[in-house]
Amino acid sequence: METITATSSTCAGLRAHPPLYAPRRSPSEAALTRFRTLVKQALPAGRSAYLTGTKEFFSLPFEVCPDVLIPRPETEILVERTIDLARKSDDLHAILDLGTGSGCIAVTLARHLPGVRLDASDISEAALAVARRNASATRSPTGSSSAVVTCWHPGPVRRRST
Ligand SMILES: C[S@@+](CC[C@H](N)C(=O)[O-])C[C@H]1O[C@@H](n2cnc3c(N)ncnc32)[C@H](O)[C@@H]1O
Repeated sequence: METITATSSTCAGLRAHPPLYAPRRSPSEAALTRFRTLVKQALPAGRSAYLTGTKEFFSLPFEVCPDVLIPRPETEILVERTIDLARKSDDLHAILDLGTGSGCIAVTLARHLPGVRLDASDISEAALAVARRNASATRSPTGSSSAVVTCWHPGPVRRRST
C-alpha cells in the first residue's frame, strides 16, 4: 500500500475525518483501519491527493479538493511548451486559462512568465475559490511574491431557446 504522509497544515481531506488528523498522537487501531479503507477507496482512481488536500504540480504545491480536478502530470508538458512558446514570442501579453480548476496552469504560467497577464476563469465558483487561494498561496521560486492571476466567473449560463 502506498504510504501517504500528510505534512501540510491545509490538509483539508484529513481534517474532514478528525479521528485521523491528530498530530503527535498515535492513531488507534480503529482509526488506522478507517484510514486504510479510505486510502483503498481513493487510490484506484488516482485520487489520493484528495486525502492529503495537496498535489505538487511543476514543483509547486497546489491545494486540491473534490471541487477541482487533481492536476495531471501530462498537463506539465502543456505548461512547459507554453512557457517555451511564450518566451520566444515578442507580442504575447496575455493568456486566458479557461476552465482553470485548481488554477495549476494559470498560477504556474504566472510564476514563470512575469511579463504576461494571466486570466483564469471557471464556470464553477467553488473551483475559482480554490484557484484564488492557490494564486495567493503559491510563492515564486525565489519566494518573493504570490502569483498575479485575475480569477473571474463568466456569469450565469444562458441556455438557447429552441
Ligand atoms: C477537466 S477540468 C480541468 C482543470 C484544470 N485546467 C486542470 O488542468 O487541472 C475542467 C474545468 O473546466 C470547468 N468548465 C467546464 N465548462 C466550463 C465552461 N463552459 N466555462 C468555464 N469553465 C468550464 C470545470 O468546472 C472544470 O473546473
